[in-house]
Amino acid sequence: MNSTKLKQAADLIRKAKYAVAFTGAGISVESGIPPFRGENGLWNKTNPNFLEIEFFKKKPFQSWQKIKEIFYDNLGDAEPNAAHEILAKMEKRSFLETIITQNIDHLHQKAGSKYVYELHGTYKQLVCTECSSEFDMSFADLNYLPPTCYICKGILKPDMVFFNEPIPHFAKKRSFEEAEKADVLLIIGTNAEVLPAADIPVKAKEHGAKIIEINIKPSHFTDTITDIFLEMKATEAMKEIGQLLYL
Ligand code: APR
Repeated sequence: MNSTKLKQAADLIRKAKYAVAFTGAGISVESGIPPFRGENGLWNKTNPNFLEIEFFKKKPFQSWQKIKEIFYDNLGDAEPNAAHEILAKMEKRSFLETIITQNIDHLHQKAGSKYVYELHGTYKQLVCTECSSEFDMSFADLNYLPPTCYICKGILKPDMVFFNEPIPHFAKKRSFEEAEKADVLLIIGTNAEVLPAADIPVKAKEHGAKIIEINIKPSHFTDTITDIFLEMKATEAMKEIGQLLYL
């Protein structure tokens, strides 16, 4: 069943004029990073309010304690998996133009992908809440929380989009432009619950793109915009697609 659909998916990608990937937390699960929702989902165990922007501003120390525990104590050791690596190979061989990701784990770049739009920012950078100066996270000693700005002593915040914060303008603008140009969109590992990110694949569909979706279970996209649904793990499906494209 999947083999026919895998061949159809590889064919679409091979013949595509402008293929774009749209990824969510599911692509990083096999790198050891838990998803936010569904089985083993982070939000099943942890109240997400520590990532709400007003909470952060009022209680930066408590917020940073959870941020450090959940993101910085774990993400540093995470390595890209086969799905990230095959997307990077697809870019090198011009089978893929760009990746639009909701993930903040930097694993696409670590795998070698160059054209990546991070809709929800990145954990790799810290930004000052007072003077907006930016620092690589390696500059911060997270044994002293909250970290403060080297220039103005303001409180530093991870350069990730918190709940009730707007998406970075440039990433949002370019992501919708990419969606409008795509004739094939490869969606990997997203529940499609969070807006405006989930509007991007819908925009691609509206502009005529064929939608290939990889997920271990149906998402909100599957019965609405998806043309080829590969009910598989990201690494399994991408390894098969990589072989069919002779990567
Ligand atoms: N392979 C493919 N898909 C998988 C795998 C896997 N190995 N494991 C889980 N999934 C799928 C799940 O079935 C689910 O549909 O990945 C999806 C993960 O969904 P979420 O955890 O909701 O992640 P995402 O859709 O990226 O969330 C969007 O919500 O909390 C915010 O900012 C956060 O960027 C995040 C946004």
